[in-house]
Amino acid sequence: PRTFYLTRHGQSEYNLLGKIGGDSGLTPAGIEYARRLAVFAKEEIAKRHDLEGNVMDDSEISEDANGQPKQRPCRLWTSTLRRTQETAQFIQHDTISHTFDNGDTLDWVQFRQMPRRNLDELYAGTCDGMTYKEIEQVFPEEFARRQADKLSYRYPRGESYMDVTLRLEPLAQEMERTREPVLIIGHQGILRILYAYFMGLDRKEAPYVSIPLNNVIELTPHAYGCHEKRYCLMM
Ligand code: F6P
Repeated sequence: PRTFYLTRHGQSEYNLLGKIGGDSGLTPAGIEYARRLAVFAKEEIAKRHDLEGNVMDDSEISEDANGQPKQRPCRLWTSTLRRTQETAQFIQHDTISHTFDNGDTLDWVQFRQMPRRNLDELYAGTCDGMTYKEIEQVFPEEFARRQADKLSYRYPRGESYMDVTLRLEPLAQEMERTREPVLIIGHQGILRILYAYFMGLDRKEAPYVSIPLNNVIELTPHAYGCHEKRYCLMM
């Protein structure tokens, strides 16, 4: 089965300041994560999947009869925001030419990249760019309402987790249909929903799922859910 790889962008300027939303770029630590993610993409994603989509262990990673690395085309989806695109910047988009045993050849672009608007972070509307402390001081009632019902709470002029769940539905279905491994560089709120969807969690649990920075979550679908593995690329 194909595998999904979910990661947040590297640390952003806003992460460092504790501000939500916005469209800031990466900090030096964020850039370092982007570099490590590019190595991970090559070594752990591209080389670990054969053309049938099976994950290979170390002993199986090898070259085919024509000296081509046995690897598979992978998809790379980011949001349209700077911090995810900057996190993708070191991932190589080499064209790979594969020759099958019967002599047929196939060219593909490794990690074909696509920015997806429906992967953009939950929009905090009027609160975009504020810290949680500022929200609590300036809009105490809004803050309390969110604490009471994080799933349904919609930021003024912004979105709720429920809204984002709806906008992600077509994307989740596309993931299910995709035959290549997919690497998604996204955001905390977005990845919580995708994770909950594929792990079969209750909707109410989704807004609280732990999706730390600097980690890649590998999900391999099986009959009743997904097998999960987490890789910490940086402390
Ligand atoms: O702080 C990073 C961030 O991605 C914000 O942009 C976003 O509003 C928030 O996390 C989502 O997390 P929570 O729903 O817990 O506030």
